[in-house]
Amino acid sequence: MKDEVYLYNQARWESLTKADAVFTRPNLDFDKESAREHLGLDRMGITIDITGKNVLCLASGGGQQSAAFAILGANVSVLDISQTQLERDKAAAEHYKVEINTFHGDMRDLSCFEDHSFDIVWHPYSLTFVPDSRVVFREVSRTIKPGGMYHLMCANPFFAGLSHEDWNGEGYVIKNPYKDETLTSYPDQDWVYDRSKSIEAIPIIKEYTQTLSRIMNGLINEKFVLAYFSEIKSNYPGDLPGSWGHFTDVAPPWLDFLWYYHPNFSIGHK
Ligand SMILES: C[S@@+](CC[C@H](N)C(=O)[O-])C[C@H]1O[C@@H](n2cnc3c(N)ncnc32)[C@H](O)[C@@H]1O
Repeated sequence: MKDEVYLYNQARWESLTKADAVFTRPNLDFDKESAREHLGLDRMGITIDITGKNVLCLASGGGQQSAAFAILGANVSVLDISQTQLERDKAAAEHYKVEINTFHGDMRDLSCFEDHSFDIVWHPYSLTFVPDSRVVFREVSRTIKPGGMYHLMCANPFFAGLSHEDWNGEGYVIKNPYKDETLTSYPDQDWVYDRSKSIEAIPIIKEYTQTLSRIMNGLINEKFVLAYFSEIKSNYPGDLPGSWGHFTDVAPPWLDFLWYYHPNFSIGHK
């Protein structure tokens, strides 16, 4: 169903592709080593051979993750709401002379995929673009194989809606209530696209907070078991208060999870 959320996300991302935003630039310089590095496989302790694995790059268009998995030998499917993002995946695949399958759609509806088809679901930053993450988790659990791996990178809910521009001379002021589906917005960072070159107005960021308990319990209820967790922050020594670098050191903006789908796992209270 193309609801308001769908149409908004689609319009914003189509317009970000026109502005050549950083997330929309395909990576055309991978070799096997830098592909592993880009995905962070070694950092997360993922040592399995990716060759022949069925990988779903979820809401992951743009020609970065799909290309990295494909040159590591995976069978890659990528689903995204932006047709232009998917074109960038195709362009990257062509560049590397590898095959990938692209699917145009919404991460909340994975009905184009059979039950239990993927060994790996790789989900970069996008969860907060939809109001209820549990709908997405239900679809991931339906389409992933038992024993399969789900990588989720998402916004750190404690700092949702906060940006370096919230510096008030002493700290970064949190203003939004900490509750599920709080609609937040903040300006696109300077590094996201070159403002001097963007010709049309880009719809503002609209994100929906997912509390940590909704994320964790949402996945636990779908029978996922946590294998890796980290807060992603930058460290730019010397960056001044009120800058992006300083902000991310004080308030890590992203979380990184690795979950395994174990439908028969039980700790006895369910
Ligand atoms: C920050 S990008 C992440 C992927 C990108 N490859 C990267 O590495 O930055 C977010 C992606 O989510 C997609 N997206 C936004 N809302 C979506 C939705 N409801 N369903 C599927 N994809 C969505 C956007 O089109 C965009 O390609």
